[in-house]
Amino acid sequence: MNQTVLLGIETSCDETAAAVAVDGGAGPASWEIRSSVIASQVDIHREWGGVVPELASRQHLRDICGVVERALADAEVDWSRPDAIAVTQGPGLVGSLLVGVAFAKALAVALERPLVPVHHLAGHIESLFLCHPELPLPSIVLVVSGGHTSLYHLPGPGTYHLVGRTRDDAAGEAFDKVAKLLGLAYPGGPIIDRLAREGNERAIRFPVARITHADRTKAPTMVTLPGLPRRAAGGMDFSFSGLKTAVARHLQHRRIGGQPPPTDGELADICASFQRAVIDALLERAFEAVRRFGACSLGVAGGVSANSRLRVLATTEGSACGVPVFFPTLHLSTDNAAMIAAAGLRRFRAGGVASLDLNAQATLPL
Ligand code: KG4
Ligand code: ZN
Repeated sequence: MNQTVLLGIETSCDETAAAVAVDGGAGPASWEIRSSVIASQVDIHREWGGVVPELASRQHLRDICGVVERALADAEVDWSRPDAIAVTQGPGLVGSLLVGVAFAKALAVALERPLVPVHHLAGHIESLFLCHPELPLPSIVLVVSGGHTSLYHLPGPGTYHLVGRTRDDAAGEAFDKVAKLLGLAYPGGPIIDRLAREGNERAIRFPVARITHADRTKAPTMVTLPGLPRRAAGGMDFSFSGLKTAVARHLQHRRIGGQPPPTDGELADICASFQRAVIDALLERAFEAVRRFGACSLGVAGGVSANSRLRVLATTEGSACGVPVFFPTLHLSTDNAAMIAAAGLRRFRAGGVASLDLNAQATLPL
């Protein structure tokens, strides 16, 4: 099969990213990332303690042209070389998404190339196949980021069924909010990860909600497994907002009790105990899904998959129950365009091309 060169563009949140990927025609094993460029806005948003959507979209507009030029130059191809342009259509901040979508459309028109819309979470999932083309299917993939905490069942290549999701905060959002409560900088995930290494993860018992009631805001997800009747997925949802409140209460009780602000050691204990509660909830639900769906592997992707404790515990638990666990490289865990290019290659091969009236969608279902 012919070689396909594809340009991927990602602007869903606070990273302007572009990548050039090549598909040799034999699926993920023949995918090659020729370049991957990321302009991070984290220094701009840190000052505000979180992403400011208006600032993010304006910064994307400043950076997009230079980032794409650099990705093409690093891959040693010119503007006319890509056979297709893939772009994140959603979900994300709509002002940010629009910058990437409008830029990709303009390129598609000017170069007379097909436009391939990509779901941001499909990008995170495909980052696993970029790193591990041999990942055995069927698989359960936990996508755990600043905006999402979702479990997908992958019966075959490029097919994703949602089987669990957070009812409130995403795990990364909980890391960022708890970091803010503790007076730590944004983004809080990597800082809590680092501080927790010095702490006792059993120092404080923070409760994690176990969802037992049906999700009344959404129709049940129906899942079809070969040879089995269609069944409703359930009981694999997450909730992290109560955990954030428990940390806030813990700090409040200390203040009311006249205790001084936490010492470095106490701060490390709070970080380690909070992190343990999040990871326990993630792994409990993820391995439950593996068992329920008889999956051959577990993949973990998205920004929080960079967490060092999550990586160790998931791998240990996987070895104990004979389920191989896969993570993307650290570079591919947080937002990037290489994963969008990979998902774009998959979608392009399947004929997934958009017309030029493509619009950005803040809440795009996968
Ligand atoms: O995937 P991502 O870059 O953006 C979204 O799509 O949301 O994920 C960003 C999230 C942030 O909440 C950040 O705090 C979290 O990933 N994160 C981590 C770590 N590195 C990034 N959380 C825990 N431990 C880490 N090492
Ligand atoms: Zn993401």
